[in-house]
Amino acid sequence: MIDRRGFLAVLGASGLGWPGTLEHFSRQAQEGGAPGDEAFWTFVRGQFLIPEDRIYLNNGTLGPSPRVVVEAVAEHTRRVAATFPPSVPWDALKDGLGTLLDGDPEGFVFPRNTTEGMSFVANGLDIGPGDEVLSTDHEHIGGREPWSSVCRRRGAELRTVALPAPAQSSGQLFETIAAGLTAKTRVLSVSHVTFTTGTVLPVRRLADLCRERGIIFAVDAAHPPGMRRVSLRSLGGDFYASSPHKWLLAPQGTGLLYLTPEWRTWLWPSVASGGWDDLELGAHRFNHLGTFDESRLAGLLAAVEFMNALGMDRVEARVLYLNRRLKEELARIPGITVVSPELLELSSGMVSFGLDGVESLRLQRFLAREANIRTRVIGEYDYGWMRLSTHIYNTMRDVETVLELVDRAARRGLPGD
Ligand SMILES: Cc1ncc(COP(=O)(O)O)c(C=O)c1O
Repeated sequence: MIDRRGFLAVLGASGLGWPGTLEHFSRQAQEGGAPGDEAFWTFVRGQFLIPEDRIYLNNGTLGPSPRVVVEAVAEHTRRVAATFPPSVPWDALKDGLGTLLDGDPEGFVFPRNTTEGMSFVANGLDIGPGDEVLSTDHEHIGGREPWSSVCRRRGAELRTVALPAPAQSSGQLFETIAAGLTAKTRVLSVSHVTFTTGTVLPVRRLADLCRERGIIFAVDAAHPPGMRRVSLRSLGGDFYASSPHKWLLAPQGTGLLYLTPEWRTWLWPSVASGGWDDLELGAHRFNHLGTFDESRLAGLLAAVEFMNALGMDRVEARVLYLNRRLKEELARIPGITVVSPELLELSSGMVSFGLDGVESLRLQRFLAREANIRTRVIGEYDYGWMRLSTHIYNTMRDVETVLELVDRAARRGLPGD
């Protein structure tokens, strides 16, 4: 294994060099960064390649990488092309993630995304006839279909509990999900933050309940890392799968799966290569995936360092600040129904809403045409909601622009109506 120092030494010896901009950025990012400090967040925006005339409000699907991440990927690709030795900086990567997510560095596995991480979990368990898996009607296909496929193949049943939208409290969400558990439930699988409404589910309490009842708890955590502070040590649960290419702004195709100590030895690997049965390797035996694109892990390391340089306190505060502004102002517009929760503790970087008499796809096209705004429509489960995601590269001006346009659409209708 090569650590970060070794990685830098190899790069130095190669003459290719590590992009110095990360250190530069870290120095510059030391001062300021209060939630409403527009000058600071405009400086952060300057670290991205997003064109000036675009308002990107779809981080919930894919996060744009900052320059330092793009550089790290390019640098790694150049190294491989120059035939320098393999150099995944495993230790630095695991340590950096351990710091960012308050987890044990030895628990991290690197699939390509949440879908693959959840599939590793679902396929790696011995689920059989008579078992039930409980999920909700706010799960993404990437977190749900792995269970659907395993249940069908093995004769188990996938059950669904309906969640309220907007949710009123964490207790309400907890009671609703807990009421769906039965004596046959082997696995509970829910999102930490739902993709539909950006609602934070009470995973900590659910983890405690599952432990008490001997139920395996798998969390689809595609969203929280890089968006909200996460403490893997205190969350509990058995599995935590994520997509750092969303809020952590890592390269596309970068996943994360965190395993608790027991599961590092108990879970069956879905991809087997040398060392798959070497239990001494712990979670790392799941990283033996054959040849893969290592440059994305170099990019992930840069993304983790970028976020650690900003600090998750500052990032979370800014994300929630923009989200609050959007929610409050949307709720004032006639005809708008906000389906995301009002409570701060349930809030995230996403807000979803419907506009009476206007199909969200039409509103989406209007926003794109008028101000080059990128959004996501939640068509799943026939919800038909418009979703706006805001992250650290968004300015308050972006937020005001989208609000003005939604207000105009609500009061005057869309052109052609
Ligand atoms: C909650 C949730 N789970 C899973 C996924 C799937 O993510 P990926 O395509 O990175 O596997 C998404 C993607 O939007 C999501 O929002």
